[in-house]
Amino acid sequence: MTDFFDDKISDRLGGLNFGKSTVIYKFELIKRAKAAAKLAHPDIKLIDMGVGEPDWPADELVVRELSEEAGKPENRWYADNGIPEFQEAAARYLERVYGVKGISPSANIVHGIGSKPVLAMLPLCFINPGDILLTTVPGYPVTATYTRYLGGEVYNLPLLESNSFLPDLDSIPETVLKKARLLYINYPNNPTGAVADKKFFEKVVKFAKENNIVVINDAAYGALTYDGYKPLSLLSADGAMDVGIEVHSLSKAFNMTGWRMGFVCGNARAVSAYATVKDNTDSGQFRAIQKAGIMALNNTGITERTIIKYSRRFDLLVNALNEAGFNAKKPKGSFYCYVKAPSGTSDGKVFNTASEVSEYLIREAQISTVPWDDAGHYLRFSVTFEADSEQEEKEVIDEMKRRIKKLKLKF
Ligand SMILES: Cc1ncc(COP(=O)(O)O)c(C=O)c1O
Repeated sequence: MTDFFDDKISDRLGGLNFGKSTVIYKFELIKRAKAAAKLAHPDIKLIDMGVGEPDWPADELVVRELSEEAGKPENRWYADNGIPEFQEAAARYLERVYGVKGISPSANIVHGIGSKPVLAMLPLCFINPGDILLTTVPGYPVTATYTRYLGGEVYNLPLLESNSFLPDLDSIPETVLKKARLLYINYPNNPTGAVADKKFFEKVVKFAKENNIVVINDAAYGALTYDGYKPLSLLSADGAMDVGIEVHSLSKAFNMTGWRMGFVCGNARAVSAYATVKDNTDSGQFRAIQKAGIMALNNTGITERTIIKYSRRFDLLVNALNEAGFNAKKPKGSFYCYVKAPSGTSDGKVFNTASEVSEYLIREAQISTVPWDDAGHYLRFSVTFEADSEQEEKEVIDEMKRRIKKLKLKF
């Protein structure tokens, strides 16, 4: 049967083929596998290591600020490109936490309704049809998706363990470089947990200048760092403000995913281009939420407490995974542990992809992870699993280890 909308959907969404693909994407596969596992074993609790969001709610300081500000008449208006107090708080935050100095709050910073829409809007600022986005894979795909929507092309830079999960900028062919307009990087990185050092950021800035490319660093996990690695901004590299823009989020560092607060900081012309697109897209985040965001940015103890919890959980998780045969290392940033997927089991099962392993873990052990098959076969375990006390954290990890060991995985 034909439908009125069959020939109405844009080509960028697949045109006549929209909604007809039979390919099942990985998050849908995971959802289905979880539902099937629950049906088959209603009495066994699923251990969810796949979650990409904090398990804690926002801090009570932040919640109280929202509840005090929500009803004030002066907060009711469209917020457009944001209130200056938020820009000022963000600039102070970047100086205090990342040591980035000389930021003009009004010229270099604009808020976003979370960082996801910012990453969607940035290609609208820089990509013309035929332009290339250089992007790291595996990774957060929004900027690449929008680049394709706009008739741009995407060139993937694989993140390999052999290069500390940093892209090899020297490997990009000259023909690609000629058409490249944007480079998207994400450090600390989702999913690998890798961090960049100052030398890498300096190399990125040099590369951008030499090749006339704008750089976006997605710093959604920027403040979540461990074991002596201090939060590091692309903007702390000499000359970064000439070529770069960094996207920050309150979602992960302040346990505020659903609140939708983020901001960009970077080159004034680039930020102004973003502000123009944003102004034509949304009318700004609710002022009361921006004020709650200021409360968060002024109280970095919230992040410090969160880091202590994640760090403790990483120690437990890494030990447990290694005892079960994985080769796990504690990351320096993010809340993810990225480990090579097993190749099979000692009783003869063979896995061809991490997706197969992930499904197997859900089905046979009721453990949920996120698989990545973009550059090697890896599983992502998140330390944001549900546990209300340190004792419970240990119990969850012990139970996870017990279940994995029973599978007799081979690597
Ligand atoms: C790498 C990365 N960037 C950006 C985001 C988006 O975060 P938000 O829109 O909540 O700021 C996420 C969320 O998972 C992420 O993993």
